Amino acid sequence: MKLLTRKLLLKSMLAVSLCGMISYAAATKVEVYKSPKCKCCAKWVDHMRANGFTVETKNIGNKEARKRAGIRPSLGSCHTSLVEGYAIEGHVPASDIKKLLKERPSAIGLAAPGMPKGSPGMESSRPNPYNVLLINKEGSVSVYKRHLPSDKNKSVMRLK
Ligand code: CU
Ligand code: CU
Repeated sequence: MKLLTRKLLLKSMLAVSLCGMISYAAATKVEVYKSPKCKCCAKWVDHMRANGFTVETKNIGNKEARKRAGIRPSLGSCHTSLVEGYAIEGHVPASDIKKLLKERPSAIGLAAPGMPKGSPGMESSRPNPYNVLLINKEGSVSVYKRHLPSDKNKSVMRLK
């Protein structure tokens, strides 16, 4: 019986903290290191703002920030972002970042290596499938989320 009450108490506590998280998520701060000229970075920033994030941009390029975060160049893209202790490399969709912040795995963060056509900020009439990778603390990666174009006949690339 005691255990049950404790369980219920924990549940209600969880509910309260989840509510807190929802209002907090709306104001989650993201720091974006990007080139001052890159248009696709700016479009990704717009995408993040449209999804409720508060974005601060640092127009000084992202090579240093990426290195500091411990992301190897082969996973690199045009901008590197910092959010709540995680690093986000490239055109990762806001929905994946929200999932990451909810699940909070022990990891460096997420990467969408290169510049996948069809990702947020890289809108294209010929979108390609792409993977968002989870970068683990030791630097190894695993697929976090696969993104397939709604019309796969339009894409020229196939996912491995
Ligand atoms: Cu880009
Ligand atoms: Cu960019």
